Amino acid sequence: MSEAPLDDADAPQSTRRVGVVIGSNRPNRNCEGITEWFLRFSGQDDAAPVFEVVDLGEIDLPFLDEPMMPALGNYQHEHTLRWSNLISSFDAFIFVFPQYNWGYPAVLKNALDFLYAEWRDKPAGLVSYGTRGGEKGAAQLKLVLQGLHMRLLEHHVELVISLENVDEQGLFQDIEGTLAPFVESAQQMVTELTLALN
Ligand SMILES: Cc1cc2nc3c(=O)[nH]c(=O)nc-3n(C[C@H](O)[C@H](O)[C@H](O)COP(=O)(O)O)c2cc1C
Repeated sequence: MSEAPLDDADAPQSTRRVGVVIGSNRPNRNCEGITEWFLRFSGQDDAAPVFEVVDLGEIDLPFLDEPMMPALGNYQHEHTLRWSNLISSFDAFIFVFPQYNWGYPAVLKNALDFLYAEWRDKPAGLVSYGTRGGEKGAAQLKLVLQGLHMRLLEHHVELVISLENVDEQGLFQDIEGTLAPFVESAQQMVTELTLALN
């Protein structure tokens, strides 16, 4: 049997759970800071679901190594069972991810491809970023999430980050200031997600 990712006694009672997926695993990634920023708008009213970070960097799945097609749910590896249990424990997802070469990060595609039924029918919100908001990467992810039969939220948070907003290492100089224009958009997404789950 696989190890349960959460102790039932610790699980929040009568609340819906949302996995907020950190969709980049690069060293020096901005994704973690952006996810922390987004989480500030979660749980501001009682009806809001519980948000929990799912860090693909920490989970560290190998490249898809299951011999059977994931849609069959016949998993052979302990890491897949753990991933399946974790994803099954959520009612919805927010994917936070950068645009990479007009697409989205391979680590995110790999994590999605590992499973199938676990994603199905669950609401999914996209928080993308890039010099133009990451809309091309988001368009690709939307198609894949439709293929997984997820329920895409209408609202999409597109964070425009220009070269002046980052230092020579590509890290934010002032994350609060840079993302201030998008606070309302993030709040709208949380509201839509809350309604979708109630
Ligand atoms: C492999 C790679 C490809 C990139 N491609 C794009 C791109 O197509 N469009 C864009 O606006 N930014 C692009 N960037 C810049 C990223 O938006 C920026 O580096 C961002 O911080 C990456 O997110 P991360 O730090 O969370 O990994 C790219 C960055 C990397 C590392």
